Amino acid sequence: MKDTFKAVKILDDVYWVGAIDWDVRHFHGYLTSRGTTYNAFLIMTDKITLIDTVKASSAGEMFSRIASVIDPEKIDYIVSNHAEMDHSGALPQAIKRIKPEKVFASKMGAKALSNHYDLGCEITIVDDGQTLDLGSDKITFAETKMCHWPDSMVTYQHSRKVLYTQDAFGMHLAGLERYADEYDRTIIDYESAKYYGNILMHLAGFIDKTLEKLGALNLEISMIAPDHGPIWRTPEDIAGIIDSYARWSRQDPSDKVVVVYDSMWGSTAKMARAIGEGLFAGGAKAKLMSMSACHRSDVVTEILEAGGLVVGSATMNNNMQPAMADVITYAGGLKPRNLVAGAFGSFGWSGEATRNLQKWLTDLGLNVITDPLRVNYVPNADDLAKCRQFGIDLAEATLASLKN
Ligand code: FEO
Repeated sequence: MKDTFKAVKILDDVYWVGAIDWDVRHFHGYLTSRGTTYNAFLIMTDKITLIDTVKASSAGEMFSRIASVIDPEKIDYIVSNHAEMDHSGALPQAIKRIKPEKVFASKMGAKALSNHYDLGCEITIVDDGQTLDLGSDKITFAETKMCHWPDSMVTYQHSRKVLYTQDAFGMHLAGLERYADEYDRTIIDYESAKYYGNILMHLAGFIDKTLEKLGALNLEISMIAPDHGPIWRTPEDIAGIIDSYARWSRQDPSDKVVVVYDSMWGSTAKMARAIGEGLFAGGAKAKLMSMSACHRSDVVTEILEAGGLVVGSATMNNNMQPAMADVITYAGGLKPRNLVAGAFGSFGWSGEATRNLQKWLTDLGLNVITDPLRVNYVPNADDLAKCRQFGIDLAEATLASLKN
């Protein structure tokens, strides 16, 4: 039986023809708790143009949606804004079935696509700033390197004022509603921050350049259409997500301190709770995240908008516990900045965990304000009082950092 997915009309001549992946939960280390979408857009101008495709496994859904509007073979052009496989996986099938007159990509996009696939056709390289005449409309390309990959570019549709932004301004959120204003705001805020934190945080310098570049182009924008999640269509939402990207790229600190830890027999957990009480007593907001209960990608989301980071682990086999090694490897790659920091943990006889955590914080260039706090085996009342004071000290340093 043929799929009967329908295209979603978003403007008179623009359709969403993407795919909804309700079930995906793992996106190379990122827990996509709410699934995702792979967005593709069909522009029904004289030259019918498909902007991006979908993951290979979702190709049937995309073709079904396209076919609900037009015979796919009538598509003239395909634009690849981004070569990563969640957007280009269906491209080889699309080229084979559609036989487009041309496939467009940035110079780096053409290179990446040819290194991924045997497409059986030439990619037409578009220059930064180049405009393509579609007959009844025009589109202009702007390179947005490293937002997310070197090939990344955005496409602007002139008459409709739509900016197709590939990964930028997206989020992993499955749903039939196509617009951000149709979702619960707390979900939109969390998932857009989670996406930025886990995909783009380490590329903050490039995000800055992208925002600067798009600002200088002075585009009138009626919609931001990313390749994941809902479309931003209200003026408030469009300005809001651009402002959020500017704030996240600066990684403005806040009065929140994230305490990330793992415990072996409960001692490090007791320390974490006493530190949390101290943070609160010192005027900060404390967010405790045990790695037996939290996912690394949610930790990164919390860190994105924090002013402090405290990491703790019991020492096990002369090192930190494996869940802490996991989260610091992942979070370290995303290069968090502007954080007051400290390390803590219990130990029996060697105590390498806190030393190694402290070194990780220092190597990241965070503002480590104190020696690691260590407790031998099980914390007693004096030890817990020290933990509380450690929290107060970190809270005060975090609040002081906000004034700088
Ligand atoms: Fe959604 Fe960088 O791919």
